[in-house]
Amino acid sequence: MSNESNRREFLKQSGLLTGGALLTTLPSFASSYGFNNSADDTIKIALIGCGGRGRGAALQALKTKQNVKIVAIADAFRDQLDDAYKILNQNPELAKRVDIPEERKFVGFDAYQKAIPLADVVILATPPGFRPMMFEEAVKQGKHIFMEKPVATDAPGVRRVLAAAEEAKKKKLNVVVGLQRHYQPNYREIIKRIHDGALGDIIGGSVYWVSGGVWVKPRQPNQTEMEHQMRNWYYFNWLCGDHINEQHIHNIDVANWVKRGYPVSAQGTGGRQVRTGKEYGEIFDHHIVDYVYEDGTLINSQCRHYEGTYSKVDEAFLGTKGRVDSFGRQSVLKDHKGGAIYTHNGKGDGDPYQIEHDELFAAIAKNEYKFWDAENGAKSTLTAIMGRMATYSGKVVKWDEALNSNINLFPDKLAWDAKPKLLPNADGFYPIAVPGKTVAV
Ligand SMILES: NC(=O)c1ccc[n+]([C@@H]2O[C@H](COP(=O)([O-])OP(=O)(O)OC[C@H]3O[C@@H](n4cnc5c(N)ncnc54)[C@H](O)[C@@H]3O)[C@@H](O)[C@H]2O)c1
Repeated sequence: MSNESNRREFLKQSGLLTGGALLTTLPSFASSYGFNNSADDTIKIALIGCGGRGRGAALQALKTKQNVKIVAIADAFRDQLDDAYKILNQNPELAKRVDIPEERKFVGFDAYQKAIPLADVVILATPPGFRPMMFEEAVKQGKHIFMEKPVATDAPGVRRVLAAAEEAKKKKLNVVVGLQRHYQPNYREIIKRIHDGALGDIIGGSVYWVSGGVWVKPRQPNQTEMEHQMRNWYYFNWLCGDHINEQHIHNIDVANWVKRGYPVSAQGTGGRQVRTGKEYGEIFDHHIVDYVYEDGTLINSQCRHYEGTYSKVDEAFLGTKGRVDSFGRQSVLKDHKGGAIYTHNGKGDGDPYQIEHDELFAAIAKNEYKFWDAENGAKSTLTAIMGRMATYSGKVVKWDEALNSNINLFPDKLAWDAKPKLLPNADGFYPIAVPGKTVAV
């Protein structure tokens, strides 16, 4: 699909970006895809990927006002599943909504296939490399879906998600992607006003995720290579996509939202300056990318993981009539003389992680088709991957080249004794991209 047609499609669909301006009530035949699978009105949930975010998302689902129950959990690892089970049962009130006997706890690479059929709504919170196949399966089985960002780690994965997103639309399955700024009141209010013209045309911007980095899980004795990569997933691209994809997608996605489109090209620079040990797998520790949009607007993106340095997770945009310098709790739209055009006082704003679940489950309970975030989630994921392609190769990468790339990072076989595609040398170090030599797409 050309970038122009992507953009037109995006504009048509952009209601979803504020939580779904378009709203349809599901016709009765659609109930075969919805929560009405249950004999009563309980909305049954399966959690797939029982780590930090999966546990958080499951608790948020339990805290909604709807009649929900978690009926199945699935994880690649038993210890992760057991820890999640304990956490879900910690609060006695919420625990009344947890109904997961031993036979509905599933472990292993195929665990998702066993959990999905038991639910009306699935929460997909594994590392993103697994999202395409799990999203595809959940859509095939007619489930409503909450899935975490990013939704893929390579272009073949993005294409699978885009295809399944089309299917989900046809089946009127609500899909929320955990790009929670779309559910965060200050972003919603500020960006609505930008789209209404408060800043004129947006002609530039900068988006940032510069911070100290995240956890690392060094290799343990007796781990197979597959287990090591799965446990230390952040540092392997088939699982994570690099931190420009895993973390910085949030800010890149805000740029796409503000611009109501996706960049036509990217070029950038990046590397491993500080984080060079073998425990850091193959990912870079910094990326600086120029994203160019169809109207020529350049958005600069910066992300880095250097411990002990300045941190900033934010976005800023410049318009012909004014600017916004930050999306902090009190976000201000200013004219060029510094006068406030609009101030969002975030006092009392809800937690976006809770809001995304409240809105999703309310729509499902009312049989409304209100959320189709998967397409934007896939295209913002591709935007981040296009940035990685640019920094790894040192080349200009165009949108269609990125989308059509056949670089497939996923292993040929999933098993604990199977070999991932990227392997360490005899000293345990992994091959790292070399700009100028590494192929972009
Ligand atoms: N929206 C946000 O602000 C936000 C915040 C944190 C994480 N996330 C996203 O949530 C996802 C999970 O991140 P996390 O921090 O919870 O990681 P985590 O490592 O804490 O949890 C991931 C879990 O998935 C399990 N898993 C791995 N492969 C699996 C498979 N094939 N089948 C079933 N389970 C599998 C792991 O064992 C682990 O328990 C990532 O995509 C991440 O980017 C989003």
